[in-house]
Amino acid sequence: MEKLIGLKKIKTAVFISGTGSNLKNIIKFSKLKKSPISILLIVSNTNKAKGLSYAYQFKIEKKIFNFKDFDKAEKNIITLLQKKKIKLICLAGFMKILSKKFIKIFGGKIINIHPSLLPKYKGLNTHSRAIKNKDKFAGCTVHHVTGNLDSGKIILQRKIKIAAADNTISLKKKVLKQEHKLYPAAIMKIFN
Ligand code: GRF
Repeated sequence: MEKLIGLKKIKTAVFISGTGSNLKNIIKFSKLKKSPISILLIVSNTNKAKGLSYAYQFKIEKKIFNFKDFDKAEKNIITLLQKKKIKLICLAGFMKILSKKFIKIFGGKIINIHPSLLPKYKGLNTHSRAIKNKDKFAGCTVHHVTGNLDSGKIILQRKIKIAAADNTISLKKKVLKQEHKLYPAAIMKIFN
């Protein structure tokens, strides 16, 4: 990834599909003086994403794409991202899989947060799988996005203990708290 030049902040887009707690957290982080990024765009594949409310709250441009026509939607996103000179794409609970073409165009500039200690539990339902397998630890990972799902180079991870009393809901809450620490730390790491 390129180095931060002078005081210019890295133009960043955040892609979401749901609640957007990571989005809110990244926006807050971006406003700190030490933050290397500035959020210019929020992209969602659905107008039902609760996280879109943060676009209004923080006055950030948002774009909702209709992924029913996937190729067309992606093409439009690419054009918009290029027009806005976006240099970092943070996936934060974005539930669509981007095409190989998209990943090639923005090669090395897309990162994702995943609620497990990758390479363990790629894909969905990470917390219930960890509990079902009686794992002692859970956690989250920020990684580079490649053509293979949840398999790109790991940037940072945070690990937590699973308590005997934990269920999927309590574990999700605990991990999410760690995600909010991890994503900014991972962004700092790539640009240092
Ligand atoms: C997070 O657990 C993230 O790791 C996963 O989806 C969830 C999104 O949560 N990819 P939120 O929308 O940021 O609250």
